[in-house]
Amino acid sequence: MDQQAYWDEQFEDNGCVWGSQPSVATDIAISLFKDNNAQSVLIPGAGYGRNSKALTSDGFDITGIEISSSACQLAEGYDPAMTLLNCSLFDAPLPAEEFDAVFCFDVLHLFLEEERRRFIAKCADLVKPNGLMFFTVLSENDDYFGSGVEVEPGTFEVKAGKYIHFFTAGDLRDSFQRYCILQEGQFKDSVKHAKHGLKEYQVRYICVRK
Ligand SMILES: C[S@@+](CC[C@H](N)C(=O)[O-])C[C@H]1O[C@@H](n2cnc3c(N)ncnc32)[C@H](O)[C@@H]1O
Repeated sequence: MDQQAYWDEQFEDNGCVWGSQPSVATDIAISLFKDNNAQSVLIPGAGYGRNSKALTSDGFDITGIEISSSACQLAEGYDPAMTLLNCSLFDAPLPAEEFDAVFCFDVLHLFLEEERRRFIAKCADLVKPNGLMFFTVLSENDDYFGSGVEVEPGTFEVKAGKYIHFFTAGDLRDSFQRYCILQEGQFKDSVKHAKHGLKEYQVRYICVRK
């Protein structure tokens, strides 16, 4: 199953699957963006807007890119202030160096190594010189680590066709070694999952300057 089909099914079955509380990552990113005068922010893999809404509510100009059309339908109701493109980040019809910053929550770990490299490069292409890129990913300390077959070092096929790469701190740093690291850290993200109740994820984040 490809990403689009997988995520369409998730959002069709569960609606706003992770509830309405934004992640603590939005507070960290908002503070960094304000300190660096970032106003226009690109959100690749915006989902139904759980996190974009914290940024639009705070006055940022948000453009989301989302591959799942069911997520886009939900987002139109959930965060109408976000400008949304229903396509893959890899095919996004956007000019280079358009945005002050990128906020990308829990998307990068969904790809194999080569695609992760392309994903970061595409985001860097869309951000202005000296722009910021803020990413969160699942950590190797997450309970899910080790589920399924390890297809690449630290990457597991947790369901048929669904990959998760669990990042160590060094791994995350290496992925962004071409850029200037401004801040990095980890936190526990708690969400009220529509089907499974309270779920906790161990998340790492990094913020770099292009
Ligand atoms: C784990 S969810 C995170 C959702 C969202 N970032 C949030 O904060 O709630 C991953 C999202 O990335 C989207 N996605 C996966 N691959 C994508 C791609 N190539 N381009 C754009 N969106 C993608 C999925 O459809 C899904 O909505």
